[in-house]
Amino acid sequence: MEITPLCIGNRCAKLPIVQGGMGVGISLSGLAGAVAAAGGIGTISGVEIGFNWPGYRRSRRNANREAMLWHLAEARRIAPEGVIGVNIMVALTDYEQTVAAAIDGGADIIFSGAGLPLSLPALAEGSDVKLVPIISSAKAASLLVRNWRQKHGRTPDGFVLEGPLAGGHLGFTREQIEQAHGDYALEKLLAEVLAELDRIEARVPVIAGGGLYHGSEAARLLAMGASGVQIGTRFVTTKECDAPAAFKQAYLDASEEDIVIIQSPVGMPGRALSSEFIKSVQLGEKNPTGCMANCIKSCGRQAAPYCIAQALMNAAKGNLKDGFTFVGSRVHLADTIVPVKDLMENLHREIADFQLPEGIDMI
Ligand SMILES: Cc1cc2nc3c(=O)[nH]c(=O)nc-3n(C[C@H](O)[C@H](O)[C@H](O)COP(=O)(O)O)c2cc1C
Repeated sequence: MEITPLCIGNRCAKLPIVQGGMGVGISLSGLAGAVAAAGGIGTISGVEIGFNWPGYRRSRRNANREAMLWHLAEARRIAPEGVIGVNIMVALTDYEQTVAAAIDGGADIIFSGAGLPLSLPALAEGSDVKLVPIISSAKAASLLVRNWRQKHGRTPDGFVLEGPLAGGHLGFTREQIEQAHGDYALEKLLAEVLAELDRIEARVPVIAGGGLYHGSEAARLLAMGASGVQIGTRFVTTKECDAPAAFKQAYLDASEEDIVIIQSPVGMPGRALSSEFIKSVQLGEKNPTGCMANCIKSCGRQAAPYCIAQALMNAAKGNLKDGFTFVGSRVHLADTIVPVKDLMENLHREIADFQLPEGIDMI
């Protein structure tokens, strides 16, 4: 199929591939810069980005801001012409400060999910940064377009539609996740979102993701009308991914049976790899250990059996005994660590080689 660049406003990437933001510390400047340099959109995760920055214990806010500015400059150094985004969860207690730091650091795009980014246009006012909410339904797309038009006189510059097969926190109930190949299949959700955006005359690019591994799967979604695809898990097993070796090894060792849906302390289900840590939480053996960062608005920190910030930071430092790894539903396919450039070329070739059946130019 013919490959069309992905343009979010005036920011265009040669390949319609967005590397999904992965926190804590999994997609920083190393991965995002490499993806942007290879022609895709690279995304830095904004969640506790300063977790290993000097002075983090003393002042999280300062460390997070300094780290954000540094990682954006570093990604730009790696990919001077590339498109660099930052992923910022609406549920962060430091949402406003994180958005400000991303703008000050010169991010091209802010991707924002885990809640509805209703205040984002006001926070970005006066800047040229492109705003792309992450959604999981046509209803959310519609609500955001209407709200932003009414309150801020603008529409989102695009949407990421994340289906229930994705890694990390999921915007679906457990029952909906069970129907990931039925009523809540990404293809079905995509058709609904595109139809709704058409209906309300907000034809902005939609980037679809969650459970994609091969270029042919990406191509199918592009042929259905997606302007781009978002991929997370597959980028973890790359040379440039910022995750430590133990984290990448857990991906290489994973089998399909190891993938579990957990109930995260922040009140959402999440897809993760089973581990001794996860098993002891499920058995009720973990007790609240205190909140170290007060990072997520919706966190049930009083009753939570563990601090998710601490667990994810431990994993990001390679200590998987006291943490866990979020994964997408195709993690078991990972079997080798490759340079980002090779992976992008591979995906590019697979998309280009994809053929629609004779006589059909769109699914
Ligand atoms: C380790 C990991 C961490 C993630 N962290 C975040 C995050 O902080 N914020 C977010 O919006 N999405 C997060 N995600 C979701 C990804 O951005 C992406 O949308 C998703 O992984 C796509 O599905 P795939 O992994 O099957 O390709 C995470 C995913 C993984 C695997």
